[in-house]
Amino acid sequence: MSIASDAGSPPEVSELARALGQAARLAPSVHNTQPWRFAPLPDGLAIHEDPTRGLASLDPHGRLRVISCGAAVTNAALAVAHSGFVPVVELLPAGEPTLLARVRAGVRLAPDAGDLRLYGAIPVRRAHRRLHHRVGVGAGDVRQVCAAVSRAGARPVVPDAPARRRLGALLRAAVEHQLADPGHLAEVSQWVRHVGGTSTSDGVPVGSLGTTPFPADSIVHDGWDLDELERAPIEDELEASSVLGIATPGDARRDWLVAGVALQRAWLQATALDLAVTFADQATQWDGTRQLAADALGAPGQLQVVLRIGRPLVDVPPTPRRELADLWRWPDQT
Ligand SMILES: Cc1cc2nc3c(=O)[nH]c(=O)nc-3n(C[C@H](O)[C@H](O)[C@H](O)COP(=O)(O)O)c2cc1C
Repeated sequence: MSIASDAGSPPEVSELARALGQAARLAPSVHNTQPWRFAPLPDGLAIHEDPTRGLASLDPHGRLRVISCGAAVTNAALAVAHSGFVPVVELLPAGEPTLLARVRAGVRLAPDAGDLRLYGAIPVRRAHRRLHHRVGVGAGDVRQVCAAVSRAGARPVVPDAPARRRLGALLRAAVEHQLADPGHLAEVSQWVRHVGGTSTSDGVPVGSLGTTPFPADSIVHDGWDLDELERAPIEDELEASSVLGIATPGDARRDWLVAGVALQRAWLQATALDLAVTFADQATQWDGTRQLAADALGAPGQLQVVLRIGRPLVDVPPTPRRELADLWRWPDQT
């Protein structure tokens, strides 16, 4: 069956392309910008970045945007597996400059149980910005999450306690830098949504921000009190946490995409293990501390993302997404 979209006069969209698009649009993205467009293929989906949804202050090089699109690639590939085919993923194929990946169905094959579990975690995965138990993450859990990173072609980094403490000090410096930057605060406020329900389709709902200070609340916004931040025991908190870095050999667009594919596989694996995932990424997001953070963690290569993993104490609400009909990119569009 083919389904025509309500946007413009689109070509036919196969049921498979639709299933892949539905999975891909649920991916996480920086500030929930959803910086992607999808082109249907007869046997899959092409994923484009959408630079018009970029973050000039936080992400001037588009690194976090491409990582976000990499997460969408993982979801599409898992949807192929769920449909009973081997996913064939081509990263950065030749073609238009915005084209990041093609995800297609290969030969027929029943999905393995691991991929089915990750696919099932797609709609329940959340960015957790609430208090969570720092303890209770077993070595076996960490091994499984690391294996998900390695399987995607990236390098997991599990720092020891002194390294986590050093990361805490760098996080503090990077957060202070973001808080002192009016451009950063203005950009964040454009993406924090004070309305709820179906009246918004992107951005971070105010109810999804943290209820406790940094590092539990991990988006630096203008509701923060600098004095409170100075008193916050960031180094102690990081030292006592499970931390996972994701590194890549280089720092080109392909590395960012691979990091995004790995981030989402790791996040879904953690979700399937009932773990909470929180970002501890400010030191990686600011050029002034990024290399220092890589050195502090002993990262092999370029550090792309840093997460904290814990046991959730409370549920967090889902964030909104744009409808698939608004995400299609037809061949005559640039
Ligand atoms: C590349 C990337 C960077 C992110 N950085 C942060 C961050 O620094 N702090 C934070 O709280 N959330 C961060 N997030 C999480 C997003 O804000 C979150 O995925 C988005 O709001 C959608 O919500 P959901 O993940 O619960 O579906 C990041 C996500 C991605 C993909």
